[in-house]
Amino acid sequence: MASKKNETRGGYDPRNKLNDLTGKEWKFFSKSVFNKHYNKHCQFEKRKQHGGNKPPLMCMDLIRIFTKSGARILDPLMGVGGTLLGASLCEKNGRGRRTALGIEINPKWVEIYKEICSLEGLEEQETIIGDATNKLDEIKDDQFDFVLTDVPYWNMDKLEHTRGASNIQKGNVAASILQNFGSDKLTSKQEWLSTMKKVFEKTLSKLRHKGYCAVFVGDMYRGSQYHLLHAELARELVEAGYVLKANIVWYDVERRLHVYGYPYAYVPSMVHQNILILRKE
Ligand SMILES: C[S@@+](CC[C@H](N)C(=O)[O-])C[C@H]1O[C@@H](n2cnc3c(N)ncnc32)[C@H](O)[C@@H]1O
Repeated sequence: MASKKNETRGGYDPRNKLNDLTGKEWKFFSKSVFNKHYNKHCQFEKRKQHGGNKPPLMCMDLIRIFTKSGARILDPLMGVGGTLLGASLCEKNGRGRRTALGIEINPKWVEIYKEICSLEGLEEQETIIGDATNKLDEIKDDQFDFVLTDVPYWNMDKLEHTRGASNIQKGNVAASILQNFGSDKLTSKQEWLSTMKKVFEKTLSKLRHKGYCAVFVGDMYRGSQYHLLHAELARELVEAGYVLKANIVWYDVERRLHVYGYPYAYVPSMVHQNILILRKE
């Protein structure tokens, strides 16, 4: 079948049912490691109030990989709107319009998202404030082409010294307050996994058949051990009904290096996150 040639982007194959990428772009984006540099953009100083914010241009790239122009995207855990901004950036960058819906439990983050849209002159996407486990029930099934989201972690991230640095640097690796996921200060990891499974079960029914779902999830070093959270979460999502297709490793070149274990024990400086790729089949 003939392909339409574009000087800089390469040829576009009209049989392409997944996205609007040319073969050259498809090849670039099919790498299992993302090391493209995303500048601090889109009102980063405002967005960084949210510790888990993701680069909107990176979200735009993921949206371009998994959708065609005209698609509708869902982020049930939207934060300050990396996904929603990414959706609006598609049109601004001449890549076709996408629309999106975000759900966020904390109204503060939605307010910041709206402020960013107005400052950047970006189309404001639809938002719902509330708990995704309830709000998803109010949304019609099978209406989204792609789910792009980023999981919150249990309340560990609200605690002081959650990185375990102070104890480990004193050589007292075992004394980290985070060694016990089940302490009364911390929601247990199992409880976190069950909540996430519930959110993703409900999200699955909103996704159209053959639609993809991409989930940012970082692994963690806590309580003197490494937790393969992406693998543990992937297992829950497969149980929730998704088919696991890939794990993309995002090497975040912007991440500052901290030295945790020196000179007592090896503790990794986490400069990567995982992006689980799943599909409704
Ligand atoms: C990792 S952050 C998302 C950050 C986002 N990707 C961004 O670029 O800003 C996860 C968000 O989920 C929200 N959240 C946690 N539990 C929720 C729930 N049950 N329903 C809706 N939002 C929830 C948190 O408040 C947090 O803002």
